Amino acid sequence: MELDKDIQTKQRGFHCNLCNVNIPNKPSLEDHVKGKKHQHLLRLRAQRKAQEENSVFVSGFKPDTSQTDLKEYFTQFGPVVDVIMDKDKGVYAIVEFSEPKNVQTALEQLQHQLNGLQLRVKPRERKDFKLSSRGKPQNTQISLDKLNHQLCKATSVNEQMEKVVEFFELNDHEKKVRDLLVQLLQEVFTEFFPDCQILPFGSSVNTFGIHSCDLDLFLELENTKAFQARAKTTGLTGENQSEDCQSEDSILSDIDLSTATPVEILELVAAILRKCVPGVHKVQTLSTARLPVVKFSHRELNLQGDITINNRLAVRNTRFLQLCSGIDSRLRPLVYAIRLWAKQKQLAGNLSGPGPLLNNYALTLLVIFYLQNRDPLVLPTVNQLKDMACEEEECVIEERDCTFPSQPFSVPPSKNTEDLCTLLFGFFTFYSQFDFPASVVSLRDGRVLPITDFLRSDEEAVNAAEASSPKPKRSSAPKLGPMNVLDPFEQNHNVAGNLNERTQKNFKRECCDAEKYCRSLQYQRKSAKGKSWGLVRLFAPPSEAGPRPKVETEKIMEVGISFKAAILPEPLRAQLALAGKGFRGLWFAKVCSAVQMVFQDILKCSPSEETRTADLSQSLDKANRDGNEMEVNNNQSLEDAAPQAKSEAGKKRPLIMEEGPSTSTATQAKRQKLDVDMEHPEPVHWTWTQRNCVWAGRRKVRRDLLKTSDETSKPEGGCVDIESRVTQSIVENEEKIPGLLFKVDAEVVGGNENTMVVLRFHPSHDTAGIFQDFFHFLESFLPKMAETILGRAEDVTEMS
Ligand code: UTP
Repeated sequence: MELDKDIQTKQRGFHCNLCNVNIPNKPSLEDHVKGKKHQHLLRLRAQRKAQEENSVFVSGFKPDTSQTDLKEYFTQFGPVVDVIMDKDKGVYAIVEFSEPKNVQTALEQLQHQLNGLQLRVKPRERKDFKLSSRGKPQNTQISLDKLNHQLCKATSVNEQMEKVVEFFELNDHEKKVRDLLVQLLQEVFTEFFPDCQILPFGSSVNTFGIHSCDLDLFLELENTKAFQARAKTTGLTGENQSEDCQSEDSILSDIDLSTATPVEILELVAAILRKCVPGVHKVQTLSTARLPVVKFSHRELNLQGDITINNRLAVRNTRFLQLCSGIDSRLRPLVYAIRLWAKQKQLAGNLSGPGPLLNNYALTLLVIFYLQNRDPLVLPTVNQLKDMACEEEECVIEERDCTFPSQPFSVPPSKNTEDLCTLLFGFFTFYSQFDFPASVVSLRDGRVLPITDFLRSDEEAVNAAEASSPKPKRSSAPKLGPMNVLDPFEQNHNVAGNLNERTQKNFKRECCDAEKYCRSLQYQRKSAKGKSWGLVRLFAPPSEAGPRPKVETEKIMEVGISFKAAILPEPLRAQLALAGKGFRGLWFAKVCSAVQMVFQDILKCSPSEETRTADLSQSLDKANRDGNEMEVNNNQSLEDAAPQAKSEAGKKRPLIMEEGPSTSTATQAKRQKLDVDMEHPEPVHWTWTQRNCVWAGRRKVRRDLLKTSDETSKPEGGCVDIESRVTQSIVENEEKIPGLLFKVDAEVVGGNENTMVVLRFHPSHDTAGIFQDFFHFLESFLPKMAETILGRAEDVTEMS
């Protein structure tokens, strides 16, 4: 019976309301209802229902009433199983009896008195059982409604932005509570780790904190290590020790801080938190994180905290964010607005630990970078800041230069006078035209570094990343991904390295949508009719923002193959690195080769005479030749010229690009030649004929073919040989179709948009009306297959 209510029939399959999942078909539905999750939730629901039926809701008692007082009082109506008090103690309680008839007896009594006060006793409200939602908690929605109401009353976007800050920023009381917890922890930890320091960093102190933000703490143990080393050399033991040394005896004698691993130390930290800090609970060590961390909560203060060790750079980059806020007062309102926008659009704020969304730190760096590129600039580059610092402010942490002035007054005020409304608009324009996969954002230089600088061998890439640091730290190159934002101090750390392609594309698409909206009067002017305007509509979550205009997929048949530096093999990376500005043309030629291979060799399409494969081979040959010659003649880096960053209202300003390492005149001449050839390569055209439904039933053929081999682990599109065999089997065993003739145009785009190859399809002879099905198959198969081929450089060279 219950099952029927939980399962809803949909147009395509079913939906289980209990587990909130879609199920494609009947067999899966049968598996689902027998599955662990569904069964667990059924049990939980039954348990909750029984609890509801067996309990009463009680209020009106004195704040100091205990669970025992209530239990004793209600026992007169029947055995009491449990008494649950609310968190803020004293407002209400749930009293659970062992049977529903006890509830009846309690409710039948008209008056209840305890300690001189009249109690209110009510039946429990019957609530629908719901999976605890991962989405927005209800009170977040309430507070957003409140904010929107206030924003609608403002008179300008500038005022709205100031209101957002007022609404979310930490108030003095909250800051004090955080300070108190830091003090408490400092006292407790000093007992165990003499001379240690607890230093807050992140949103609690970086000037961008909001009410619910967690408390990030760094436990600095350098002095404790020195203390321990001293204690060892002086040979102090047991009874002769000072008070500090007694604590050293209790904890420090168990662990050698100079050799212990971070996880070992954090286990100790977790034990201290559990046993010795009043109010702390839910202590958990996450040892697999990039930086191992101990998480905890404080019950009374209603705070969540993180403790890390080895995180001195975070304390310093927090100082940097504080400084930037102090240099220009427009930064805070911008960051608050953009953080809220990104949260609402589900672009930032991974709920628990690392995920594929932007973290708030990365998002803040994107805002600062944008302000470094405004014309006139709003914030100076990190290198410029370094030059403004005095000798005493010099700071090197873990061999990384973290020098900047300690006070904002050391930095001359910006000549930029744009208001907040314009700057916010500009942010969206800036990133809606950004070529993320082909750029590396450097706040240190205040400009985009070409991705080609990071495609060379690891060591050269490290040099490129840290060229501007006087004492570069020899370490690995940054992890390249769909978005690359270098930490201003830890230059080999891509703070957006966790993003996947989808999140990056969503970010860009949302920037485009926001940019379009900011052009409208609804953004710029208060509605006279009391409608939502300005930031209110900008912050609307996707569901309320209205449906996205549907692209007519029937008419536009396009497939994109994105530039993904991370999947390219070393030799190809090296060639692209040498091609400098012409890398896009060279990569285009390689992609075209791969695409041709997919059509011709894997999907067994026959090329028509019109196909200009000759052009393609020529350009690929040329690209390879130039690339190789340069490799022989010059192994120095080739510096790109500045890509253009277009700001709104048509203003153009080049992202500042300095001259790179000097190259010989001959190489420069060659480079110029290559640039001309390869920077704007001609589009490529093919005409193909397909005589088999190579897409229909492909998965089954594949499964049958692989039954007897150990290649089954390869995903669809992951292996050239398997996919060729699958097609071959279809060609040999299935009926032929009337020739399907289609044209494909390929061009490479980039610079002011994400670097990618766009393939446009035009069916020219499709009597059976099946091209649409073929295209749907190609949409996912073609990029995957092309990437597989690109990943094996030898395929591409073979083709040329
Ligand atoms: P968060 O991304 O959590 O930022 O990083 P936040 O400002 O504290 O925002 P919320 O409200 O907690 O989400 C916290 C701090 O961790 C350091 C920075 O000091 C940042 O301020 N951090 C974070 C890094 O140093 N590198 C990173 O890649 C991420």
